[in-house]
Amino acid sequence: MEKDQSYRPRFHIQPPQGWLNDPNGSVWYRDRYHIFFQYSPDSPLGSGRKCWGHYTSPDLVHFTFEGISIYPDHPLDQNGVYSGTAWVTDQGLELYYTGNVKHPGNYDYINEGRGHNVLRVKTEDGYHLSEKEVLLENKDYPGDLSCHVRDPKIFEEDGWIHMLLGARSRDSHGGLLLMKSKDRDHWEIEREFFPDDFGFMLECPDYFTIDGQKVVAFCPQGVDTDDWHYQNIYNSGYLFLSQEISAASDETLRKEINTRDFREWDYGFDFYAPQTFETPDGRRILIGWAGVPDVPYGNGPSIEEGWQHTMTLPRELSLRNGRLYSLPVRELEEARSRKLSWDKEHERLDSTCLDIVVSADAAGKSLHLQINEDLTFTVDGKSKMASLTFLNDTGAGRSSRKAKLEASEGFRNARILIDRCMIEIFLNDGELAFTSRYYPADKTGLSLSIEEPYAVECYEVGDTITIS
Ligand code: FRU
Repeated sequence: MEKDQSYRPRFHIQPPQGWLNDPNGSVWYRDRYHIFFQYSPDSPLGSGRKCWGHYTSPDLVHFTFEGISIYPDHPLDQNGVYSGTAWVTDQGLELYYTGNVKHPGNYDYINEGRGHNVLRVKTEDGYHLSEKEVLLENKDYPGDLSCHVRDPKIFEEDGWIHMLLGARSRDSHGGLLLMKSKDRDHWEIEREFFPDDFGFMLECPDYFTIDGQKVVAFCPQGVDTDDWHYQNIYNSGYLFLSQEISAASDETLRKEINTRDFREWDYGFDFYAPQTFETPDGRRILIGWAGVPDVPYGNGPSIEEGWQHTMTLPRELSLRNGRLYSLPVRELEEARSRKLSWDKEHERLDSTCLDIVVSADAAGKSLHLQINEDLTFTVDGKSKMASLTFLNDTGAGRSSRKAKLEASEGFRNARILIDRCMIEIFLNDGELAFTSRYYPADKTGLSLSIEEPYAVECYEVGDTITIS
């Protein structure tokens, strides 16, 4: 008998079965978006083969699952086709990724026993791939690095093609490795950089320019929680650079890449390993994995349905008030299928796939919003702290997360996207975001209460994911 699938989201990218983690190689190529992702089809716990799954989309709203794109079938990726990136050339699309190898034996798998290689496949149509080419192996990286060197991001700067990789040094400091090439076949070491205090490993680096501002992004592992910063076991965020990363001195990088200025993309329980890409009309889009590795909370109810994890909605980035704001892509409004009425006396909405907009008048400063007996989302007008708190076990071990509205006076608006077991909250036009999974008992609707007399618009969102 088909397992119950009632927690499956209707408008978020998800694995047809098994496990999903990082988005990979997201790109607009020949009339559509391609979103690849870390996919373990064999188990919702993530064991078994680690492949690249593949979705396409004409508009960043409707997504079609295209099957498995890359299997771990090469000696240098036999234990996983790990994260990577896409690069468009005049000849076609190139996909670069980390081939993971675990040598059998009694190794620590940090300084010994593991291979992290860079492989590439090419494709003209986005679907049919060339033979795999091995571009780099551990012996090609600087000798002070451990075996953990992964997640290539390709970009062009200063007449070179550069590859940015996340790394762990042999003495367990997180760092970045830059390689460079003229022809993308032969790569040389350009520079390594180890910022202070960013823990033992940096994963999934990214580098891009938005409105002339250079941005470097990565996921540090091993940074201690500091009040509302670094609340999850591993975190992801970005920093502004005043110069091109390939040209900046070590001193400049050391000044600018520091734990104080690092801004997290999202302050919820479930956000990690995002990547950005550009739309044909020049917007910078961020998609993250709505999950984090090694967390003490879980997704038991979705595992029972045979799948685990989703992607976040694609988010449009904009540079404002010295930081990056993020909001669901504007195209998502097309997926609103029905307007629902809500008022303070009749709080129930008869759907759990919702797009809710709460707006304050100019005087609005605080917010107290509650969904069922499950969770509250509040903003304190005085301290400007926003908090997401689970009140019962629908959070499957998730407790409370908070962040400060540093760029605004208090609460102005919130956009809340709920998709069965997924909630994404965007505060003040995207100054802060909170993404979390949760498993409400009532699957037919929810009760939304808001203490203040703010304007509330509610829409149901329709199905946008096709898995045939
Ligand atoms: C981040 C990550 C990457 C790695 C991939 C493996 O979540 O650990 O560093 O390439 O997942 O699935």
